[in-house]
Amino acid sequence: MANTPRPLIAGNWKMNGLRHGARIQVDDLLERMAGADLQDRDILLCPPATLIDMMVAARHVRAQPLLVGGQDCHTERSGAHTGDISAEMLKDAGCEYVIVGHSERRADHGEDNDTVRRKARAAIDAGLTAIICIGETENQRQSGETLQVLTGQLEGSVPEGADAANTVIAYEPVWAIGTGLTPTVEDVAEAHAHIRETIGGLIADAPMVRLLYGGSVKPANAAELLAVENVDGALVGGASLKAADFWAIVTAI
Ligand code: 13P
Repeated sequence: MANTPRPLIAGNWKMNGLRHGARIQVDDLLERMAGADLQDRDILLCPPATLIDMMVAARHVRAQPLLVGGQDCHTERSGAHTGDISAEMLKDAGCEYVIVGHSERRADHGEDNDTVRRKARAAIDAGLTAIICIGETENQRQSGETLQVLTGQLEGSVPEGADAANTVIAYEPVWAIGTGLTPTVEDVAEAHAHIRETIGGLIADAPMVRLLYGGSVKPANAAELLAVENVDGALVGGASLKAADFWAIVTAI
């Protein structure tokens, strides 16, 4: 297994979770982790910033290798940016990862590839692993532009100095997020093969970079999606909010 990427199952809680209910889910997950052999995969949760501290404390109490990440970071280390959080702050809070360029941020906050690249750079500089999200819209897929869109997003969003240790790529078709729709396994295979090939020109150890699939991953479809060539894990939204569902995905590899 040494020359294949180590699978990563990541949960993106988005803007969901209050302390009490979140703690119950995290403790449930940690208990499941304690009873399992997880040497061959990484498990990550990216909660809202308000819950990072709780999650880091919870994993410490239970001594489990749960990774914790932010959902976004600023391009700068510090400064007059009201409401924003820097990569250095996430690192300081106990995070190992941060998602950058999620399609919801690209759409809601007008983030372009250049902004995403600078965020990924800031994350790497702070010692975090950046999960760079890319993916086509429904219109782009229908016009046959999917692979071209992915190339442009990769070329624009992957910073110099990216490698398999500090960068993960998440392929999330925008039309599959939160809709219950997923691409066919053939479409996922085609997109991931294209991503693998494209990052060959951008990242030195491209074969070892983890490529995650995201968009309506559920217990019922996880095994099929995770078995696709060049899919090294999943980025899970809705189904990561319940420990039992997330666990079913973690163990579907
Ligand atoms: P869903 O799993 O809810 O479709 O969300 C996917 C996603 O956007 C993860 O980042």
